[in-house]
Amino acid sequence: MSGNPLAPEWLRVPEDANDLAPGVWSQHAVRTADGVIAIAGVPVTELAATYGTPLYIVDEADVRDRAATTKLAFDTAMRAIGTSAKVYYAGKAFLSTEVVRWVDAAGLGVDVASEGELAVALAGGIDPARIGVHGNNKSPRQIARAVEAGVGAIVIDSAIEVERVAAAAASAGKVQRVRLRINSGVHASTHEYLATAHEDQKFGVTVADAPGIVAAIRGLPSLEFIGLHSHIGSQIFEAHGFAEAARRLLELHASLLAGGPVPELNLGGGFGIAYTSADAPMPIERIAEGMAAALAAAAAELGIDVPVIAVEPGRSIVGRAGTTLYTVGTVKAVTVETAAGPAVRKYVSVDGGMSDNVRPALYHAAYSARVASRVSADHPALARVAGMHCESGDIVVRDEYLPMDVGPGDLLAVPATGAYGWAMASNYNWVPRPAVVAVRDGAARVIVRGETIEDLLARDAGAAG
Ligand code: LLP
Repeated sequence: MSGNPLAPEWLRVPEDANDLAPGVWSQHAVRTADGVIAIAGVPVTELAATYGTPLYIVDEADVRDRAATTKLAFDTAMRAIGTSAKVYYAGKAFLSTEVVRWVDAAGLGVDVASEGELAVALAGGIDPARIGVHGNNKSPRQIARAVEAGVGAIVIDSAIEVERVAAAAASAGKVQRVRLRINSGVHASTHEYLATAHEDQKFGVTVADAPGIVAAIRGLPSLEFIGLHSHIGSQIFEAHGFAEAARRLLELHASLLAGGPVPELNLGGGFGIAYTSADAPMPIERIAEGMAAALAAAAAELGIDVPVIAVEPGRSIVGRAGTTLYTVGTVKAVTVETAAGPAVRKYVSVDGGMSDNVRPALYHAAYSARVASRVSADHPALARVAGMHCESGDIVVRDEYLPMDVGPGDLLAVPATGAYGWAMASNYNWVPRPAVVAVRDGAARVIVRGETIEDLLARDAGAAG
């Protein structure tokens, strides 16, 4: 069947618009015999009836499994080059106390980027020594709380922060372990990477400034320098950027060894996932092996040992585990003039939108979708899934083929929403943020309660009285 001229190049007309694309959906998502999508043994129709829609569904075993697989991949690859690995989960992707417990159980640490994330990580019960703290402008209170809690590392992001962290540690009577974030000049986007001398962005210090700042850290008795840090971007599909950053960082690392020990090197996160069947991310084992090979080669050239390697993926741990469930409210066919003549795009409006997933509006991020409450024998029609918010950029899935008869009352599931979905949710248009439900072995439980209109009104000072 030929495609709709309004469809983007990458979008294929599916043979069956009911199929769940391999590699995109969470591991335990299936279409059951009665046509309903079930995740970890729980039919979405049941979830919708119990919890309502929109609803975030997290496949718990998928997160646990990916955390364990990632740990194993880096442990194995780094052992093969004579060192070891530390894997932190980047909590900004999606953090709740349950998720902290899952990744903790898999042997991962947790990275936090705010006082709130730190509080959730601590409430999740992880050993503070396995928490890393980030941010280009950490508040004095955040630094104090982190030091008092005994976090394993604070990543210093600017010269100004050296004194701040040192003072907080001194007044707590502690020695705080710190890393120094480097603006390596390497920036990777999904399909390419860019290597420059200085990247024009807010994070980290330049390679040229680093030795002076490290000397300052080493001169302060309340600080212990444990190594450099770099994070080159997010949703990266190939290994060159990581390899280039590893090479540059290791060179700087080697030059610092004359002034004292540098036990670790943190290379950040950013490993890509598939949002649609057009995405082909690299398996985590290949990423780990590629990084290890680049590190081993660079270390041999520099005549040094490879330090302990830390990484901090977020998206690749939780992204695929999440599915958002919506109910279709209205549909309309919109005719658009194209060079090939008039073409029809079917707008399918659901009961959520940019308040529960801002990524399509903010980054033009592509997603996919399926009718989840039934199968349809109708032919695939080009659709755009829109939200219920008052602006035209409120898109949930920009381009997808859905069965022509998709209509009011159908449940619609959007896969791969586990990372930066709930985490970036808002109350735009005074919409309450949906609940997060974890499913595992046929059972569902709420891990983050959904908001109600009452919750929202309770924060309005004029209404609350
Ligand atoms: N480490 C650092 C220092 C980071 O800044 C980040 C992400 C990560 C680790 C984790 O990156 P990941 O493995 O999740 O790609 N909101 C954007 C992504 C922003 C990422 C910010 N930093 C999105 O929705 O695509």
